[in-house]
Amino acid sequence: MLKALVLSGGTGTRMRPLTGTIPKQLIPVANKPIIHYVMEQIASLGINDVGVIISPETGQAVKESLADGGRWNLNISYIVQDKPAGLAHAVLTARDYLGESSFLMYLGDNLISHSLGDMLDSFLRGGDDSVVLVKKVRDPGRFGVAVVNDNFKILRLVEKPERFVSSFALVGLYLFNKSIHKAIEEITPSARGELEITDAIQRLLEKGGNVSCSLVRGWWFDTGRKEDLLKANRVLLDERSERKVEGVIISGDSRVEGRVQIGQGSSIAGSVVIGPAVLGEGVEVINSYIGPFSSIGNNCLLNGVRLENTIVLNHSSLTDKLYITESLIGRHCHITGGAATVDMVRVNLGDWAEVRLSWV
Ligand code: DAU
Repeated sequence: MLKALVLSGGTGTRMRPLTGTIPKQLIPVANKPIIHYVMEQIASLGINDVGVIISPETGQAVKESLADGGRWNLNISYIVQDKPAGLAHAVLTARDYLGESSFLMYLGDNLISHSLGDMLDSFLRGGDDSVVLVKKVRDPGRFGVAVVNDNFKILRLVEKPERFVSSFALVGLYLFNKSIHKAIEEITPSARGELEITDAIQRLLEKGGNVSCSLVRGWWFDTGRKEDLLKANRVLLDERSERKVEGVIISGDSRVEGRVQIGQGSSIAGSVVIGPAVLGEGVEVINSYIGPFSSIGNNCLLNGVRLENTIVLNHSSLTDKLYITESLIGRHCHITGGAATVDMVRVNLGDWAEVRLSWV
């Protein structure tokens, strides 16, 4: 039986400050942790057994969020990787769990709209040792890339090339049979000190293995940076949000328009909320404008603000003549404006940040 291996270890340095206190795979997009989308997709493929790679530092939070996987009818096993020594090192760590099984490896910070069913079917019909997903990108230097010929046959793979070799980025999803384990044994750490899965697949190619690639249709986000996360938030709200406003007190001259989801126990007073947007439970919105592409977590207070295109995590408050856009705001943050002139603010704040703005 095919298994899945989801990588949720690593350090997440590119998303600091937020990842100082929350693993990047657990950052919510449209109010749902990224890794939950991964689990949904794996479940939709009919895979039951999922190994989740966790780190000693953030593993507990990942465990609390996913539990035993029962809510997706998955059977999750946790595998601790003692240090973030690379994606191939994660596979090595999971060697006993994987046994002789073929597996889908899914990076836990990746979001993809592409349905994987066809790719999986053709892999299971046999012939390939590995299938990698690729997508044409404008900034290939940020990724592993595949050099392909006109027939889309892979010639070479390079991890984060310094000079241009291909614009086909390796999306963080791979199918492998057991031959990847031998290839991993034969590689050494890269210049950045990691055992790279890209090098292992390259080794598999050199040994005469069959590696094919499948082009991703639709969107793909490697949510490593604030911009990617906000873009993913926009796309997911745009494509998937529905109107659901129940158990919410709407008072004063308030208007709630379009595909807006608001959780139980929230209240909207003297405010306008325009979808697509999602507000969690126990959110208080007073004299504010919440514009499209806003995702607000549970128990937040927004009083006298204009906000759009922004992710706010649980227990934060934004008050007093603020205009916030394109921002990422962690848990328990408190931002206060408090001046006659309202100007646009863009912030990227980790948990527990306090900001008081004053204009001259
Ligand atoms: O997102 C696609 C890219 O992912 C590919 O194009 C690259 O070829 C591949 O190497 C990888 O590059 P990143 O630099 O984005 O990988 P990152 O360090 O962000 O790790 C990806 C995920 O794997 C993330 O959820 C953390 C987890 N991880 C990472 C390492 C290094 C582990 O679980 N263990 C690890 O040792």
